[in-house]
Amino acid sequence: MKRKIVLTGDRPTGPLHLGHYVGSLVNRIALQETHEQFVMIADVQALTDNFETPEKVRASVTEVALDYLAVGIDPTKSTIFIQSMIPEIAELTIFYLNLVTVARLHRNPTVKEEIKLRGFEETIPAGFFMYPVNQAADITFLNTDLVPVGNDQLPMIEQTVEIVRKFNRLYGDVLTEPQALVPPALTGRLPGLDGKAKMAKSAGNAIFLKDEADELTKKVMSMFTDPNHLRVEDPGQVEDNAVFMYLDIFGRDKAAVEEMKEHYRRGGLGDVKIKRYLNDELQALLTPIRDRRKQFAQDPAAVMHLIREGTAKTRERAIATMARVRQAMKIDYF
Ligand code: TRP
Repeated sequence: MKRKIVLTGDRPTGPLHLGHYVGSLVNRIALQETHEQFVMIADVQALTDNFETPEKVRASVTEVALDYLAVGIDPTKSTIFIQSMIPEIAELTIFYLNLVTVARLHRNPTVKEEIKLRGFEETIPAGFFMYPVNQAADITFLNTDLVPVGNDQLPMIEQTVEIVRKFNRLYGDVLTEPQALVPPALTGRLPGLDGKAKMAKSAGNAIFLKDEADELTKKVMSMFTDPNHLRVEDPGQVEDNAVFMYLDIFGRDKAAVEEMKEHYRRGGLGDVKIKRYLNDELQALLTPIRDRRKQFAQDPAAVMHLIREGTAKTRERAIATMARVRQAMKIDYF
């Protein structure tokens, strides 16, 4: 049986962090065993809100590629490619723009939220405004069946499905309707070091996969716990306590974690102790990743070669899809 095609990707705006690991990288390592997986480094999308700092995006492409390889996304099992090197995606975007209204883009919840976050009003760059259409092109050019996503990306898939339906209705049955996939391994959102809802590079509350051991320790020791837990003997709160939220995810000995929670609630268990415990768990997880990352980083040309091969394979698919699209749209002149 033909394996289903899965597309995932990240905007290269910096190195990947533990939130990416929990939210999507773990899934990709599993999905590459069962699906035909493409992993896109979305530099075109990154440029929609970073076009004034291309050097940052360029450096981040390398960082993200290293993170992928370090965590075990295997180029013999997954195809890693760079978005901007597939010009057919840009071509498709132009044709899809005919099928979408400005009003519909304004209603896209993810875009709405980002307009608010970035303080854009009517001064929003057109490229940023229409990035969901560009993302629809990303998703469809490979005849993607499944897109693993978190909740924030669901509106993008909804909008893609609308475009696909409209295209197929107008021009014939060419495009594949993608489905969102919330995979079983998805552990959900990881809070930041400050206990805030989400770990994010921009919030300065992230543990990066590339962090050195001492940096990691420093970050763990600075984590938010219970602000009312002033003395070791005081009873402490486990809920909304970032250290325990992390231990729920990364603690390998669940019984030990439950015991610590009880002790903490009772009083008599200090923050330093629980942080040291968490630090040990995270070092155990991240040390092999950090070591592999360093090995790959020693040979940047070899890394680029892997990405180049993935991109060439992806491009062949893009060209085939584009030929069918052109024929359906009656613009296959010669
Ligand atoms: N928008 C995604 C993010 O911010 C990145 C992305 C771009 C993507 N194109 C995609 C993800 C296509 C899945 C499929 O994380």
